[in-house]
Amino acid sequence: MTGFALELRKATATAHRDAESTGFLSRLAAGAVPVAGFAALVSQHYLIYRELEEAGARMRADPVAGAFVDAALDRLPALEADLRELLGRGWAGEVTALPATVRYTDRLRGACAEWPAGFIAHHYVRYLGDLSGGLMLGPALRSSYGTGTSFYVFDGIADPRGYKDVYRERLDALPYAPEELDRLAAEAAIAYQLNIDVLRELGRDFPDDLASAA
Ligand code: HEM
Repeated sequence: MTGFALELRKATATAHRDAESTGFLSRLAAGAVPVAGFAALVSQHYLIYRELEEAGARMRADPVAGAFVDAALDRLPALEADLRELLGRGWAGEVTALPATVRYTDRLRGACAEWPAGFIAHHYVRYLGDLSGGLMLGPALRSSYGTGTSFYVFDGIADPRGYKDVYRERLDALPYAPEELDRLAAEAAIAYQLNIDVLRELGRDFPDDLASAA
């Protein structure tokens, strides 16, 4: 890895470690969180991706950011199916935003609507993460909860590693001035922090389900 893709990874490495160390995702993977906690995470994802993918629909026309928009990444249909499985037909009435999710979706609305580099920052943090740790998390969640995990399956992406390579080439080729690349990296760090805040709130709301962890 070279160029801006490497710089972006380095600039967010600490934030990534902090995201991992919130512990909520690993507790979920171990089945140590009640299913309501898993459903709450899926609900937050639904609200976040609804905003991100709405921004993607607008950014498709942008000559630079448009290259990142790809229907094969879209998570909203999978999240709707997962919520239907977890919460039943009335799922839409049961999805509630945590305070941290409100802050995240507000930021998405502000940073992605008109600012292509801001959109790319948020796109990178979510989708490249989904194609990395997310692909390892999926099977663990499936064995712990049995249902509601289609979010972690990318039917349209046969080779995630190859997809990420092309994605990083696209990051390396961004035609932005160094200051704009710095702003993009700073926005990616903010995106990480917003994710960390959501995971921390979920961790606080859903402490260990010792019975199922035993
Ligand atoms: C238990 C939690 C997590 C684990 C075990 C994990 C694991 C990983 C691993 C192994 C990679 C490297 C994949 C590769 O080199 O191709 C990776 C990359 C990445 N992860 Fe995570 N991750 C976790 C949480 C998160 C969270 C919460 C986010 C953000 C919402 C995230 C975003 C990313 C991104 C953007 C990358 C790509 C970095 C780059 O190469 O530029 N991860 N993750």
